[in-house]
Amino acid sequence: PNEPPVVFHWFPVIGSTITYGMDPPRFFKENRAKFGDIFTFILLGKKTTVYLGTTGNDFVLNGKHKDVCAEDIYGVLTTPVFGKDVVYDCPNSKLMEQKKFMKVALTTTAFQSYVPIIADEVSSYVKRCPDFKGKSGIVNIPKNMAEITIFTASHSLQGSEIRSKFDESLAALYHDLDMGFTPVNFMLHWAPLPWNKKRDHAQRTIAKVYMDTIKERRAAGKSDAQDMMWHLMSATYKNNVPVPDHEIAHMLIALLMAGQHSSSSTSSWMMLRLASRPDIMEALYREQVEALGADLPALTYEDLAKLPLNQAIVKETLRLHAPIHSIMRAVKSPMPVSGTKYVIPTSHTLLSAAGVTATDPAYFPEPDLWEPTRWNKDSPLAPSLARNEAEEEEKIDYGYGLVSKGGHSPYLPFGAGRHRCIGEQFANVQLQTINAMIVRMFKFRNVDGSDKVIATDYASLFSRPIEPANIYWEKRD
Ligand code: HEM
Repeated sequence: PNEPPVVFHWFPVIGSTITYGMDPPRFFKENRAKFGDIFTFILLGKKTTVYLGTTGNDFVLNGKHKDVCAEDIYGVLTTPVFGKDVVYDCPNSKLMEQKKFMKVALTTTAFQSYVPIIADEVSSYVKRCPDFKGKSGIVNIPKNMAEITIFTASHSLQGSEIRSKFDESLAALYHDLDMGFTPVNFMLHWAPLPWNKKRDHAQRTIAKVYMDTIKERRAAGKSDAQDMMWHLMSATYKNNVPVPDHEIAHMLIALLMAGQHSSSSTSSWMMLRLASRPDIMEALYREQVEALGADLPALTYEDLAKLPLNQAIVKETLRLHAPIHSIMRAVKSPMPVSGTKYVIPTSHTLLSAAGVTATDPAYFPEPDLWEPTRWNKDSPLAPSLARNEAEEEEKIDYGYGLVSKGGHSPYLPFGAGRHRCIGEQFANVQLQTINAMIVRMFKFRNVDGSDKVIATDYASLFSRPIEPANIYWEKRD
């Protein structure tokens, strides 16, 4: 009686699985129009309660650990992919320590060393890739962006030994590992199916590659490289236990997987959006010439801060194309929803979808328009984020360092609360560097010259452009 309204459905177990799965944002908006911010639907037999709006974002993402739990939902999917004893295969307090270790490695000094590595990976990729032979052509861009993402992330975060192995064995193994991340595995993760066997073999083989590299490094002695592996090798838990090698290996897999899908999808959308707005691509080129000089010297970390439009490309693309459309939590104790008569029982799953507020005209004028200049404070399209700005000031420590509380923000592509992304700064550095380098080399437009953008594929865990997502490219002289 005190439960939220249930979305109408014909069949008991299937419920709304199909309508939700085909287009989650549309499903959320249609039901928000009917029921308001809070409603329940059946997802694969499970009562799933969606709480939208800024209050809903905060309710789910900043829920207390005694009330909400991520590992009960995601563990079945992530443990076989990442490996044991990390992330969702350990108590939350241990995850908080692991996030602290990973975050400590992502410092300004590290980023200063990463930008040249990332910039070089992008230009050497374009030089050797057969898709970019000649002066102009048409390319299905997501495949190239996936490769650029994994080369840049592995080289910067995991070091040159691991990067060199991506040209041979590791790329294919990660491909197999990735098949564990398909949504049917929420139910079939345990099954002895061909793709699960490949997943398990890939997990063991990749972990061994990392563990062997750790041993080699230890034998060779300390280096001054700034990569994640070195940092984790010297990390110690609060109880004085050093992080075991298998946990280092599994954390490295987790980091690469977490970053890969989200950054690769975002960079594909950035390229597709640029192709739909050649005027912005030109403005980006002029921005670099004006801020860095006509000879466009080798890009540095400090340069990124001088390129506000380049920064806004990432921000605006994540507003419309956040790769994670739904964040779920198991309910561990009945949760009263203040200001309503509802109590969410422990039989429900909670779902947060901050993409809905990020495309709400109440906060973002002309919300469906991709307009990076709106992040300019005096733009007529500037967002109204008053409460967000106040909350951004308020800091909180969940055990992995101070983060802004910010759960009431309408713009949360990196989440909030104890599970908030620790890769945000890295992703920004990576995506801004990739964008700046591509802008130096290319002019893009849509193949038909229009300003259309391709539709979104929601069938995998991270949403991405439907393929083929072709763009026309032309090299700058
Ligand atoms: C968590 C988004 C890149 C590592 C998250 C969460 C979101 C997110 C929404 C919260 C998930 C939840 O509450 O259940 C993104 C986006 C990215 C990105 C949009 C890029 C555009 C990265 C990168 C890394 C990374 C590059 C690694 C270097 C993590 C980790 C967590 C996380 C370790 C914590 C998971 C937890 O505590 O449960 N990310 N992420 N992410 N992300 Fe990212």
